[in-house]
Amino acid sequence: MRMYDIIAKKRDGGTLSREEINFFVSGYTAGEIPDYQASALTMAIFWRGMTERETAELTLAMAHSGDILDLSPISGVKVDKHSTGGVGDKTSLVLGPMVAALGVPVAKMSGRGLGHTGGTIDKLESFPGFETGISEREFYANVNRIGIAIAGQTGNLAPADKKLYALRDVTATVESIPLIAASIMSKKIAAGADVIVLDVKTGSGAFMKTEEQALLLAREMVRIGTNVGRKTTAVVSNMDEPLGYAVGNSLEVIEAINTLDGHGPEDLLELCLELGSHMVVGAGAAENAKEAKKELLRVIDDKSALRKLAELVEAQKGDGRAVYDTALLPASSIVRTVEAKEDGYVEGIACDTVGLCSMVLGGGRETKESVIDLSVGIVLNKKTCDYAAKGDTLATFYANDAAKLEDALSRFEGAYRIGENPVRKQKLIRHIITEELP
Ligand code: URA
Repeated sequence: MRMYDIIAKKRDGGTLSREEINFFVSGYTAGEIPDYQASALTMAIFWRGMTERETAELTLAMAHSGDILDLSPISGVKVDKHSTGGVGDKTSLVLGPMVAALGVPVAKMSGRGLGHTGGTIDKLESFPGFETGISEREFYANVNRIGIAIAGQTGNLAPADKKLYALRDVTATVESIPLIAASIMSKKIAAGADVIVLDVKTGSGAFMKTEEQALLLAREMVRIGTNVGRKTTAVVSNMDEPLGYAVGNSLEVIEAINTLDGHGPEDLLELCLELGSHMVVGAGAAENAKEAKKELLRVIDDKSALRKLAELVEAQKGDGRAVYDTALLPASSIVRTVEAKEDGYVEGIACDTVGLCSMVLGGGRETKESVIDLSVGIVLNKKTCDYAAKGDTLATFYANDAAKLEDALSRFEGAYRIGENPVRKQKLIRHIITEELP
């Protein structure tokens, strides 16, 4: 079999066989197929798509490219959550501790930033000393001891996805339903949780720009998860503007801490309660969503979820004091505000532009080797529907490099659409997709 023929077949709209998919996945993982051929194939898949069967085969081949975790050393029903990627999406930092504070074991594997979207692993590394590359043994031990561990995709877990994820990030091949479905579900299958809750984003800041595409992706992933015996739910949520106000690693960590401390943004809390209720009910720790949400609010009120975050940070060798003193988190040296040029209502915010600006400031990766700046980013002051008078602050930029700041500010021009008339708030939670296990 030759990689050249596989690329040409997909380029011409053909359907790949299981053998061809396995040949590509195993060869690329082993380093026998070079990046340029893998890039060509992913670009061909981007344009030509994949059938349901091809996507399922690709997912399984990627899941089996490394170890499949057996989480049986952890007692209880294990839950995991994954987002398709958004701007300002710090839900895992809030949700993990909330669910764990209710006694539901959270064994979570997270990713780094991708394209204009941020990743939980980068955000967690804002805590000085935090280790995301913990061993499997430590991972199990931490979940058993404190109820939660969040690890990066280290070791030998879905190594095919690890390589492809980094490649897609820098070759403009992220926004593909089969590639996203296979990437996420291969990791989730390999990571072994019994209950998987997926947050599928739709809108200008998401990889799936339309609700229709997001629904296709959600259904595809739920189907794959269900077929391998995992209780899988997908929540389709709006990403037409950043979630919360903060975009950028340590800035988002601060917002997550504030949310766990009871004063976070409404949209972030709403999404955490929705996703969290599926995790808690799926694990059998609450009868129904209403009861689960009540319990999730209780662990914010009594601060046990905030304490759980500090325990998580400490357990992974980070400085847990930063949960109570955010001055210990990385901070930028330059602060600049952007003001409204006219009076009016915020009709919309170009969400992908905000993500891109954060990346340009240094908060995301331009190449596979880029080292990111954890302290930079943007904090919005106005969100959609808010009224802004001329001169009001729309957003604050946090930077360390004057040239990068100027570049980001010029890209930000026109990111806010301001109009004369009041605007109706869009619904955050759009759809919930489940499929009963056969
Ligand atoms: N998140 C992932 O893990 N993979 C993707 O391809 C997109 C978002």
